[in-house]
Amino acid sequence: MSMTKREKIHVIAPALRVLLGGPVRPWRVRFDVDAPADSDAVVVDLPAEAETPGKIVLCLQAAINAVGQVRRVVVPGVGGFCASEPLGEGRVAGKIAVVTGSARGLGLEIAQGLAAEGATVVLADIRADGAKKAAKAIVAEHGPGRAMGAAMDVTDPASIAAAMDETVRAFGGLDVLVSNAGVLKAQSVKTQPVEEFRFVTAVNYTGYFLCVQQAAPILSVGHAADEAYTSDILQINSKSGLAGSNRNAAYAGSKFGGVGLTQSFALELIEDGTKVNSICPGNFFDGPLWSDPDHGLFVQYLRTGKVPGAKTLDDVRRAYEQKVPMKRGCTAKDVMQAVLYLIEQQYETGQAVPVTGGQVMLS
Ligand SMILES: NC(=O)c1ccc[n+]([C@@H]2O[C@H](COP(=O)([O-])OP(=O)(O)OC[C@H]3O[C@@H](n4cnc5c(N)ncnc54)[C@H](O)[C@@H]3O)[C@@H](O)[C@H]2O)c1
Repeated sequence: MSMTKREKIHVIAPALRVLLGGPVRPWRVRFDVDAPADSDAVVVDLPAEAETPGKIVLCLQAAINAVGQVRRVVVPGVGGFCASEPLGEGRVAGKIAVVTGSARGLGLEIAQGLAAEGATVVLADIRADGAKKAAKAIVAEHGPGRAMGAAMDVTDPASIAAAMDETVRAFGGLDVLVSNAGVLKAQSVKTQPVEEFRFVTAVNYTGYFLCVQQAAPILSVGHAADEAYTSDILQINSKSGLAGSNRNAAYAGSKFGGVGLTQSFALELIEDGTKVNSICPGNFFDGPLWSDPDHGLFVQYLRTGKVPGAKTLDDVRRAYEQKVPMKRGCTAKDVMQAVLYLIEQQYETGQAVPVTGGQVMLS
């Protein structure tokens, strides 16, 4: 079956990033449908039989080897690809990272943390306005081209595909997917409506599968262009993915399932140079999920009397902090340490790394 134009763009752009910039600091590549095939451009006519990613990579490799350094490639029938050197300094300098659910909360802080360490970030969220506003603030702090906001509903394959396409056209692909979007509906199994169970499962479990399904083919291209190139998928899981959670089965089940997906993706995708790991944070008390003054879990638990004897929000918070051997909640900084470790290390995949202050320990 012949490849669509979009499929070709999704191979050509990530391949050029690595072929032009190398496996460690791939270049940025912007797709421009109208880029002129003038004397500055290398024109690569793909033969009719170049209908697989592998064959397209070989054609590009041959064309680039023949002319040396290239800034613009025009592929007749597809369009132009404008290359530039990577931006940013730090531990993930030059990497392109897509972070789902990053309009607020932990996802936002992970996107900000990655940008501070040199990555270019795509903030993808069902709250598109929030994602775009947050991306604008990152650009103001770190410079033009360092962030983009995109609408993405992780339960909808077409929506994920559109955001991935935007990412490829703007930056040439991605090196890191952070699957962070998640929701929580806590209730007893005896009373929870099945619609709530399905909602949590759709976002936390199926949403992770769908995002990986769309990102994995794009991530694989860099490795096909140069075996030394590796990429990362990081799932923001939870301590509830490692130990059951009372009256919170929908959430814990979706997170346990996420660990199964991570292990299985890791086994499959290592042949593409993609490492897949989960991070399992403890409770992030400072984020809106817990601290929102109207709907946060502290308010809900105070109202419903979940913590016996608690009279104030501080009482509820202290009760939860006492459950942690380190006597405090997890912070975004704690999670960022794990994010950076998992990207930097080159000999681990399929793991679920706890960041719980000792509250949940691996056996
Ligand atoms: N808050 C905690 O205590 C805690 C602890 C451990 C793990 N986690 C995990 O961290 C992740 C982020 O949690 P948070 O506390 O920052 O939550 P949050 O509610 O503050 O933020 C979640 C973000 O995901 C977005 N989102 C929701 N549904 C979406 C969808 N269908 N498509 C795209 N985006 C969607 C929301 O718009 C929001 O911006 C989740 O996976 C959660 O399970 C949270």
